[in-house]
Amino acid sequence: MTQPRDGAPHVPVLLDRVVALFADAPDGVYVDGTLGAAGHAAAVLQARADRYGHATLVGLDRDPHALALARAHLAEVGGAVEVHLVRTRFDGIAEVLDDLGIDRVAGVFLDLGISSMHVDEAERGFSYRQDGPLDMRMDPDLPRTAADLVNDLDARELARILRRYGDERFADRIARAVVAARPLSRTVELAEVVRNAIPAAARRTGGHPATRTFQALRIAVNGELDALEQILPVALDRLAVGGVFAVLSYHSLEDRAVKRAFADAATGCVCPPGLPVCACGRTPQVEHLIRRPERPSPDEAAANPRATAARLRVVRRLES
Ligand SMILES: C[S@@+](CC[C@H](N)C(=O)[O-])C[C@H]1O[C@@H](n2cnc3c(N)ncnc32)[C@H](O)[C@@H]1O
Repeated sequence: MTQPRDGAPHVPVLLDRVVALFADAPDGVYVDGTLGAAGHAAAVLQARADRYGHATLVGLDRDPHALALARAHLAEVGGAVEVHLVRTRFDGIAEVLDDLGIDRVAGVFLDLGISSMHVDEAERGFSYRQDGPLDMRMDPDLPRTAADLVNDLDARELARILRRYGDERFADRIARAVVAARPLSRTVELAEVVRNAIPAAARRTGGHPATRTFQALRIAVNGELDALEQILPVALDRLAVGGVFAVLSYHSLEDRAVKRAFADAATGCVCPPGLPVCACGRTPQVEHLIRRPERPSPDEAAANPRATAARLRVVRRLES
């Protein structure tokens, strides 16, 4: 069993499963599009180096702090390994591979969303429990912070974001309360406004009342769904035959986008039944390696609450 490092800043989810999937992928370049602290990447790189005698990782992250942590962690991997780390949004994968002169890859992994480092560092502004500036940018050079959204958008647009990205049923009430409380600059200030905007009975059920609002703002600030929609077809196209693409998602919007893209790529002939020969010429690009999304065990979820919502989907590239 692959153990997360003692004192690691982020505990990788479904680590053994992810390592096994990519250790079995063909020899070739492995891409981790969400490197974080390289918990998954270091373990996968080591497993592939042990198996093939050499291994190459292309690691992407839009957060320079994550890349610095990852670099230190990856230096511990033994054997003939080649590592390329690039600061970029992951949908820049095609340009990165082109710049490195890499055509096809043996594996792509995405572990979506934010890391424990983001939540644990109050100054990054992701936490409603610890006070910090309303920031929420994974990439500190992004032009718009969460404070810009809550202070500049009108109530209708704010409510739309809360409904769409947070599935928040009290979106209108929260948006009106936010507009009335402006200007807001601190995370706990916003969390308090949200708590007070939600009916008392609803406050007693589910998790913290601000969870969905914070998720929605974070997704909007970082353009998370846009990046995901963009990378899915591009990464599928860059897989070598037998190459594996695995995505760990943490909420239904992400999972739905992955499910749809994988199902589409796994679809063959779409001619109406009854045609004597196929006229569409379409063949499946990939096969599903697992039919239903895989979830962490209750033991893993109990030990690492961040894992609770995780869903893993995996496909493998077919001959084309
Ligand atoms: C859940 S963490 C990954 C943790 C990692 N698997 C580990 O074991 O340490 C997600 C990481 O991906 C990065 N990230 C999220 N969305 C991204 C995107 N669209 N492009 C590039 N990096 C992204 C975040 O900055 C964060 O460091």
